[in-house]
Amino acid sequence: MDHFKYRNDELWCEDVPAASIAASAGTPVYIYSAATLRHHYRAIARAFEPAGATVCFSIKSLSNVHILRLLAGEGSGFDVVSGGELARAQAIGADPAKIVFAGVGKTDEELTQALRSGIGLFNVESEQEFENISALAGRLGVKTSAALRVNPDVYDPRTHTYTATGKKETKFGVDIERAVRFFQTFGRDPNIRLAAIHIHIGSPIYSPGPYVAAITKTLELVDRLAGMGFKVDTLDIGGGFAADYEEGKSPLAFSYAEKILPLLAGRALKIVLEPGRQIACNAGLLLAKVLYVKQGGDRRFVIVDAAMTDLVRPAMYGSEHFIYPARLPAGQPPPPRHIKFCPPGAQKVDVVGGVCESSDFLGKDRMLPPVASGDLMAVFSAGAYGFTMSSQYNSRPRAAEVLVDGDKWRIIRRRETFQDLLAPELDV
Ligand SMILES: Cc1ncc(COP(=O)(O)O)c(C=O)c1O
Repeated sequence: MDHFKYRNDELWCEDVPAASIAASAGTPVYIYSAATLRHHYRAIARAFEPAGATVCFSIKSLSNVHILRLLAGEGSGFDVVSGGELARAQAIGADPAKIVFAGVGKTDEELTQALRSGIGLFNVESEQEFENISALAGRLGVKTSAALRVNPDVYDPRTHTYTATGKKETKFGVDIERAVRFFQTFGRDPNIRLAAIHIHIGSPIYSPGPYVAAITKTLELVDRLAGMGFKVDTLDIGGGFAADYEEGKSPLAFSYAEKILPLLAGRALKIVLEPGRQIACNAGLLLAKVLYVKQGGDRRFVIVDAAMTDLVRPAMYGSEHFIYPARLPAGQPPPPRHIKFCPPGAQKVDVVGGVCESSDFLGKDRMLPPVASGDLMAVFSAGAYGFTMSSQYNSRPRAAEVLVDGDKWRIIRRRETFQDLLAPELDV
């Protein structure tokens, strides 16, 4: 699942003890494992290789440029949803032909930036957006390609409503019933080659079934369009493959591929994938230090120096991350990564941060070995939608990010300073 393991009672990332990183980089700190990133990227690329798929890593899940460079080195393209994400891809010299750009609210500035850089595909989410891109492309004198993002009205009931994007009543894409009209209106545009369909049904999708349902519907659309003279040569099936927040709970890449690939067999379709979470989630953890332990009524709180500002998923979606001390009590075996795991001598605690909100917790009702001030706590499976969703609320500078590769590690984003917090206000 990843390269974070306990050895001699200590948590290690690959061949580096987590405590030695904390001692020199401080806490809270995000620690990423290069070997885990490579492993998950390669697993997806290999599973979908029979379809010749292009993997476009979803930058929103983990956007540090050093990680993007590592993945580009593996052959990855990128899925972006803003000018800022595109700037990150540009900063590492990513191949523009392997960049896809989704999002319901792309601004003229972002569209111009993308048109000028020659990205591979705009994933267009409305009629007005298509007209706007065409007009901008005409003005710039460039040609581009687009996929129509269709909303196949499919979802996984286990996906949080905030991250389910394939239902009709979400803001994403165009209802599949409107797709034919869309092609009739825009299919022969002089500036945009419209020969692709994009779907992204949500995140995480815990089984292949919803993909099968959505792709089946989409292929019916592709056939219908072909019958009308509109050739679709590219299908972007989005992201959403689940990741193991608990050991062994999610299908591996090949399990999705095993069900999806037969649907595509014999079709001359270029396939694009936009995975984020399955590559990044288990490749990162958030390491925090215990500040205080206190009782509040019948609840026991472990207060750490990381907070919802560093990892907002528990507060935002009720997500559960496995949390455990970085040093095991003497004689205890490494824990299985199960939220409900209860080691001998455990105490029931809430792991919380120091932000002034009751929603500021990293884990509730966790059975943990007793911990004390100064102990290090690891919040596992925090590589995706961890740092990228962090904020400076309560004027807390953001954490540092560290990348481990074998027995080497380096800071890939320095800890923010008070100067970083204040500069945009004092600079004006
Ligand atoms: C359009 C699009 N593609 C890809 C992704 C990546 O999803 P995941 O990280 O679950 O693979 C998202 C996530 O929100 C998305 O909105």
